Amino acid sequence: MHKLSRRSVLALLAVCSLGLGSCSKPAAPAGSAGDTIKVGEFASLTGKEAAFGQSSHKGTVLAIEELNAAGGVLGRKLELVSEDNQSKPGESATIVKKLISRDKVVALLGEVASSRSLEAAPICQAARIPMISPSSTNPAVTETGDYIFRVCFIDPFQGVVMAKFAKDTLKIRKVAVLTSVSSAYSVGLAKYFTERFAKDGGTIALEQKYSEGDKDFKAQLTAIKAAGVEGIFVPGYYTEAALICKQARDLGLNIPLFGGDGWEAPQLIEIGGAAVEGCYYSTHYSPENQSPAVTNFVQKFKQRWNGETPDAMAALAYDSASVLADAIKRAGSTEGAKVRAALAATKDFAAVSGNTTLDAQRNATKSAVVVTIKGGAFKFVETVAP
Ligand code: PHE
Repeated sequence: MHKLSRRSVLALLAVCSLGLGSCSKPAAPAGSAGDTIKVGEFASLTGKEAAFGQSSHKGTVLAIEELNAAGGVLGRKLELVSEDNQSKPGESATIVKKLISRDKVVALLGEVASSRSLEAAPICQAARIPMISPSSTNPAVTETGDYIFRVCFIDPFQGVVMAKFAKDTLKIRKVAVLTSVSSAYSVGLAKYFTERFAKDGGTIALEQKYSEGDKDFKAQLTAIKAAGVEGIFVPGYYTEAALICKQARDLGLNIPLFGGDGWEAPQLIEIGGAAVEGCYYSTHYSPENQSPAVTNFVQKFKQRWNGETPDAMAALAYDSASVLADAIKRAGSTEGAKVRAALAATKDFAAVSGNTTLDAQRNATKSAVVVTIKGGAFKFVETVAP
């Protein structure tokens, strides 16, 4: 907060002195040749979910670099202005305000975590600056308003995918759900999973809670053990999910644990080790997919980022930047209202994560994939069509 207000004062002073000294010579108008098109990115580049932000950032950078190498958009280069929210609540609002008012970005890309997208969305909506979340799946994100888009599926679908997977593939009928009450994503996904699992005749024997950053889950897992369930649904993020798997095994709970896209990060295996073997989660894409769109992307990403294999966050972030560039081209302008209208008209855009059409609710409809952990690595299990 302190940092921002000081920066704002400096920015104001700069504007004032410019105005006094050379008021007859305004900055080049937006749209003139030579200047860049500024695109803002807000991401958890450090902190608890750094894996999300890092991965997402690499996908975004790759897309922007490719677009610029191909001549840019509307004859201008794209300039990515990235800010780190350190995975902390409150920070996304601060940095997004700064990106809009000080850097004058024409659109925002972010965030991965729904709670952080939900912080930024009202700010973008009020400023009429389009925002595209690559991978936030909570429905409320795009419900904020008509300037807020996403290029991924939403949790009512993801919850159904895992409820059906538990019933049909794992063949379990009695489960426990362990929800992070401080995460909008977790609360939503728990609800959609529970509704579907119960509707299909399954039993939710008990629901237990935790909060982001918790490290000790013994009390919840002891209660779950006493309930005699056949599986545990953990709609959370990778750090807590890995610790929950470990502590479940320590308590002698040898039933499957499974979750959603929030599990996706190399740290799930690094922290969880043997405890996450045989666990499952749903996500947006698999780098094992042999379609040309995916193999081409995987190859380019590895080349750019030291041989690293792109995960779902990287693919969706790449797609979010590509969808934005396509909309700016079709709009023929960087003006918020025009870019917004072009984004809303996005239809059958050939993206890495699948063909992207933005519906009337500004969401995409895409297949999910289920992944397991085997031999210390992620393995594709199945694709689930919408
Ligand atoms: N969907 C998650 C959320 O909304 C974020 C996420 C996306 C995590 C993709 C991992 C992979 O919070």
